[in-house]
Amino acid sequence: MSSNLAGKLRVGTQKSHTAAENVGFMKCFVKGVVDKDCFAKFLSNLYFVYSALEGGIKNYKNHPTVGVMYFPELNRQDALVKDMEFYYGNQWQEQIKPSAATQVYLQRLHQLVTHTPELLIGHTYTRYMGDLSGGQMLQRIAQSGLNLTGFQGTSFYNFEQIPDKKAFKDTYRIALNSVPVDDVTAEKIVGEANYAFQLNMEMVQELEGSLIKAIGQVMFNTLTNSRSTGSTEVARS
Ligand code: HEM
Repeated sequence: MSSNLAGKLRVGTQKSHTAAENVGFMKCFVKGVVDKDCFAKFLSNLYFVYSALEGGIKNYKNHPTVGVMYFPELNRQDALVKDMEFYYGNQWQEQIKPSAATQVYLQRLHQLVTHTPELLIGHTYTRYMGDLSGGQMLQRIAQSGLNLTGFQGTSFYNFEQIPDKKAFKDTYRIALNSVPVDDVTAEKIVGEANYAFQLNMEMVQELEGSLIKAIGQVMFNTLTNSRSTGSTEVARS
């Protein structure tokens, strides 16, 4: 029996998605305005997030709900290590630390890993489906905006084991629908996905100050003064 978890997540996070797309940092990014230091910082925060997330879910491979959504081909930690080496060199581990918002995100992940692993599905959905969707566009923008070659410095967006993103997303949605959850748990997972969006927004909002320093307040205001309709509010093709 289908839980329609995929549909519930998509509809239940539409507003959050629109809000996330409308955060200043993202609006500038989409318009091709990317600053190298900010982008490296952005990826370094994600390095901590994915390390916690992936370190946590790998212990639940055989869990009745989390296990259904365990797709190791999605794992981003190794790709992020490559990016860290690219931006910070061999001593990268000594040069990065999780920002304040990232620490809140990490605390939440640790809490779920220990107490309510089924809610981690809200986090894996929010990050991985986003990376396979808008993330692919962001990779092309970062590559040209920062004058990078291939996936150098953007390995994070390179899903080597998933050549057909659309087919994989369909498989992922089918898997979501097969997760054995009751309505109450499904609602909690949707709530957690909305919280994951919020945590991601707070993480990029923190970078706004450095971005404004790099590009100037006037430029930042010009790029961010309009609000656009969210990508997941339009019908899926
Ligand atoms: C400017 C930034 C962004 C753009 C341009 C963008 C664009 C898109 C697009 C076009 C889709 C639809 C793909 C499809 O249905 O196959 C999508 C889906 C999605 N995005 Fe984003 N996105 C952005 C930011 C984010 C952020 C920050 C997150 C969360 C951290 C996120 C999470 C998601 C998720 C979870 C989906 C899947 C929705 C579903 O269930 O079908 N996106 N995005």
